[in-house]
Amino acid sequence: MKVMLIEDDEVLCNTLARVLKKYHRVDAFTDSALALEHLRTNEYDVVLTDVKMPGYTGMDILKRVLESSPGTHVILFTGYGTVDEAVKAIKMGAYDYILKPVNTSYLILKLEKIEEMKLTCRTDRRSGNDFQFIFKSMKMQKIVDLALNVAVTDSTVLLTGETGVGKNMLARLIHDNSRRKMRPFVSFNCANIQESLFEGELFGYKKGAFTGADRDKRGIVELANHGTLLVDEITEMPLNMQAKFLKFIEEKSFFKLGDNHSTGVDVRIIATTNSDIDELVRNKKFREDLYYRINVFRIHIPPLRERKEDILPLASHFVEKFRYINPEVSGISEEAIHKLMSYDYPGNVRELSNIIERAMILSRGKKWILPIHIILPVNDKTPESLRLDDIVRSHIISVLDYTGGDKAKAAKILGIDRSTLYRKLKEYGLIKS
Ligand SMILES: Nc1ncnc2c1ncn2[C@@H]1O[C@H](COP(=O)(O)OP(=O)(O)OP(=O)(O)O)[C@@H](O)[C@H]1O
Ligand SMILES: [Mg+2]
Repeated sequence: MKVMLIEDDEVLCNTLARVLKKYHRVDAFTDSALALEHLRTNEYDVVLTDVKMPGYTGMDILKRVLESSPGTHVILFTGYGTVDEAVKAIKMGAYDYILKPVNTSYLILKLEKIEEMKLTCRTDRRSGNDFQFIFKSMKMQKIVDLALNVAVTDSTVLLTGETGVGKNMLARLIHDNSRRKMRPFVSFNCANIQESLFEGELFGYKKGAFTGADRDKRGIVELANHGTLLVDEITEMPLNMQAKFLKFIEEKSFFKLGDNHSTGVDVRIIATTNSDIDELVRNKKFREDLYYRINVFRIHIPPLRERKEDILPLASHFVEKFRYINPEVSGISEEAIHKLMSYDYPGNVRELSNIIERAMILSRGKKWILPIHIILPVNDKTPESLRLDDIVRSHIISVLDYTGGDKAKAAKILGIDRSTLYRKLKEYGLIKS
């Protein structure tokens, strides 16, 4: 593959370049401005970039790549101090981040995965395996068929299902199988954004539109032009924005803050929610007219416990994904499989992934994943007497135990951001409010 490497630390840059050149064609840069310049005229399969650099940062590089060559995968190198930023980068569309000090064999493995994925995407677009979307159950087969059928149309799609079932994964699958596949795939999470910043983030603004608007800014909608806009957790969109968003869908144009000319764009919309949107419409918490606009083609992904045939293929996939943690491992023992199969996964695939990641750490140096390596939250109660809150609470406790109280690490394992973790800790009385 063609790889661009940007790392301002000259020693690290040279070391990485030397290793990577055994497998790839590498252009290495210690100066991010030079790299940015080079990106104008050159296309890469992968861009590896440090986050913190003098001059242009990793985020600047990412933005440029997302705009000019959305087919390129961006991986960021980050220290513990900039993990938040890296997570933000992933939400914007970066492929992954790697913690420093960079483990070169892990990096090589990551690149191998990308290469594999690029090959499958090229040769086997309709297999359902793009981006390694794993499934075996008939239920998921039907869903993937539906998704592939709707992918080629330009219809708005609404994806529903519990947290962690794979709504974002499916959105990506739809994009990758659409005529927009070479164009941007941009996601916007309605739950992560303050109400007062919402409109500016979504539609952008002109310089001087409000105090602090010291330059023009393009909104997410414009960044997604010609591509797909994933509106994540759409039911969290403030009501006044719902009206504006509806108008945007109908007119395919919008007003930036401080602009009296409208801007037209061509985007395909995929929305997701894990709430009961019909109920919210009945209670007037979600606008009915917007609901009708987005509920054109609805796909509901069932929870993992209702498609148990997917557990094993997914577990094996995650063993491979986390193999770098325990390269010696041969697989999951029969008893451990039994344990995995009898659990009901309130956090769905994301939870399974976390369980396997932890199992890989706990089984380090051993050949088999055994039942003792599979840590499940509270299993001393019968399922009927378990409340979701109890499970979440005890899971948080066990993850915190496991990280030795490190909340940043715990939040990462739990797949939530630190502020959400703090909120939950307060909610469950685990820290003083
Ligand atoms: N079929 C699948 N194959 C491989 N990985 C999957 C699959 N489904 C989900 N995952 C993994 O599980 C995790 C959660 O998936 P995803 O983010 O798509 O869920 P979601 O439904 O969007 O969750 P939320 O409602 O919390 O946003 C991700 O790490 C994703 O890679
Ligand atoms: Mg999601």
